[in-house]
Order: sequence, then C-alpha cells, then structure tokens
Amino acid sequence: MQKIVEKYCELPRVVRRPLWQIWHNLMIRFDKDKAATFMNYGYAGLNGDQTLTLLERDENDRFCIQLYDHVVNKVELKDKDVLEIGSGRGGGASYITRYYSPASYVALDISSHVVDFCNKYHNVKGLSFIKGYAEKPPFNDNTFDAVVNVESARCYKDLDVFFYEVKRVLKTGGHFLFADMIRHNEVETIKAQLSKSGLELVSQENISKNVVKALDYDHIRRESLIKDQIPGFLNKAFLQFAGTQGTERYESFANGKMEYWSFVLQKKA
Ligand SMILES: C[S@@+](CC[C@H](N)C(=O)[O-])C[C@H]1O[C@@H](n2cnc3c(N)ncnc32)[C@H](O)[C@@H]1O
Repeated sequence: MQKIVEKYCELPRVVRRPLWQIWHNLMIRFDKDKAATFMNYGYAGLNGDQTLTLLERDENDRFCIQLYDHVVNKVELKDKDVLEIGSGRGGGASYITRYYSPASYVALDISSHVVDFCNKYHNVKGLSFIKGYAEKPPFNDNTFDAVVNVESARCYKDLDVFFYEVKRVLKTGGHFLFADMIRHNEVETIKAQLSKSGLELVSQENISKNVVKALDYDHIRRESLIKDQIPGFLNKAFLQFAGTQGTERYESFANGKMEYWSFVLQKKA
C-alpha cells in the first residue's frame, strides 16, 4: 500500500480513479471523529509568523488552511461565483466560503463517497459539493469568477484538457487559483502547459520551503492522528500520504526533487 501511495501518479488512469474511492472510503471508515477535513501538505511562513486570524474551531487545521489562504488571497472573492475542483474532504471549501463570503461556492470531486461525506458534514450557506471530473466539469462556458485547485491536478490524465476546461468555465476577467506539487524536472513543462492554455499568468511562486516548514510544524498532529485512527498495517501508507518527517514524500520536498508551486492566472478578453 505504501508503494502504491508513492507511485500513484505513475499508475494507469483506470486504476487511479477507483483508488481515490478506496482511499476516501478508508478515511471515512477510520476517521471516526472527522478530524481530517483537509488532505494537503500545508503552508507556513518561513519565520513562523502567523498572520492569519482564525476561529478557535479552525486552529487545528491552521497549516492546511494557510495553504488555501495563500492560494486565494490575491483576488477578490466576496460576492463572486467560485468553483473548486478536487475539493477532497471539503475543509478548504468550507474555509473559503465562511471567511471570504463568495455568492456561491461549488466544490467538485471525483469520489462520490467524499462528496456524500462533505454534503453531510459541511453545512455552510452557499456551499455545495458535487461529483464530477476535472477534465469534464459539468458547467456552461463563462460561469465562474474563480476556479480553485489545490493539490489535486498532479495526477489528472490530461492537464491540457483540464486547463482548457478551466478557461472555458471562467468568465472573462475570472481567475484560476492553482497550487500543486510538481517534480523538479517537470516544472517547466507544467509552466509551458499553463502558458499554452491561453490564461494569462498573474503571479507564480515556488513555495516548497513554506510547505516543508508547515510539515515540520504540523508533524506531531499528523502523526498522532494517523497512529490513533488508522490500523497498524496501513500506518506507513497514511504517513507517506500525509508527508510526515522521515517519509519519502517529506524527503523529496526537503531535498528538492519535488517542488510545490502556486499560480494565479486570469482569463483575459
Ligand atoms: C490530495 S486531495 C486534496 C483535496 C483538497 N484540495 C485539500 O487540499 O484538502 C486530491 C483530491 O482530488 C480528487 N481528484 C483526483 N482526481 C480527480 C479528478 N480527475 N477530478 C476531480 N477530482 C479529482 C481526489 O478525489 C481528492 O479528493
């Protein structure tokens, strides 16, 4: 199982889709306290500064929330129509809807299990979760003011198709707010694909150091969550997925083989 997590992106697509279902099912079964509503590596200021003011209930998820906040805080979302693709367990969707007050926030994920989980668990006005595919979002052209995508795109079958669809569903002037981990030797390829999409680059940042810092700060919480809730034989796979210190995933960020980038792009007229 640990090897599957490590090599996930190299597996054929027909295997990857059911694997997400299985993974979400395992989390729903084992995370009885619903303690994990995020599935990203997080973001921390390099000096340990915590400028984001959060409600007490959100403090536990501070680093995962800071990643979402870093991705979206450069554009105005108040009263806008926002789509998130690859929303996972919905923590980011809930955070953005509660703190940024968009007019509507639709969160889409490939897994029906996680969509059902989110619709039961997150009860936030204006927020809804639906099942769908990044490469085929079921929306008309020019529907959204912003599309959010956090740590999900790396394993899509066809990024060109995904970027094309993002541009299609965005209104003119709308923004694509995108962050993901990218293998060091693939960064230029992804940048070229973004450029080819016709969306205009507003900003880009290598945030790998911030992600490692977040994994360091969040290590104890991540490790104890897994050790408390996940059966022993699955521990290593979940630790790898969570990027805790000592895992191959953590080391790949620390030694630069894997980078983490954030991008803001805009659909121009
Ligand atoms: C690592 S999780 C990140 C979830 C969330 N963005 C977060 O930061 O907590 C990646 C998510 O992308 C979803 N996903 C994977 N492939 C997808 C696809 N082709 N279309 C839509 N969602 C997809 C998975 O089901 C999973 O929930």
